[in-house]
Amino acid sequence: MGSLLFHGNCVTCHHETKTISAPSATEFRQRYRDAFSSKEEFVSYMSSWVKKPSHEGSLMHDAIKKHELMPELGFDEDALKIICAYIYDTNFVEEEKTHPKR
Ligand code: HEC
Repeated sequence: MGSLLFHGNCVTCHHETKTISAPSATEFRQRYRDAFSSKEEFVSYMSSWVKKPSHEGSLMHDAIKKHELMPELGFDEDALKIICAYIYDTNFVEEEKTHPKR
């Protein structure tokens, strides 16, 4: 479920491991992992931020400078919690090694 939602809603801008038009999921996952000690805090902070992206709440001012602030996309709050829990749990670099796409 989390994987489907993540791939349907986020991957257009956020590649799993490569920074293209926005930071990779690996990059913001690491940033948020470093900032929050529990999964609950990680999920709660990330889903609120994605619901309403702001400069003030950002943990990635460098990314805003480089790519501009993420647009507000009207995501559903419950879906975001599922997506952020999936991101917390997923090591995208390992995943790519075990299931290479090409
Ligand atoms: C239209 C493109 C776009 C889509 C779709 C998108 N993002 Fe983003 N996102 C960005 C850009 C650009 C940034 C970098 C600038 C910033 O941090 O605001 C960003 C930054 C982030 C950050 C870092 C926040 C911080 O602290 O600054 C997180 C976390 C994030 N996105 C999660 C998500 C999730 C989860 C989804 C899917 C539900 C998603 N994004 C969908 C463009 C997008």
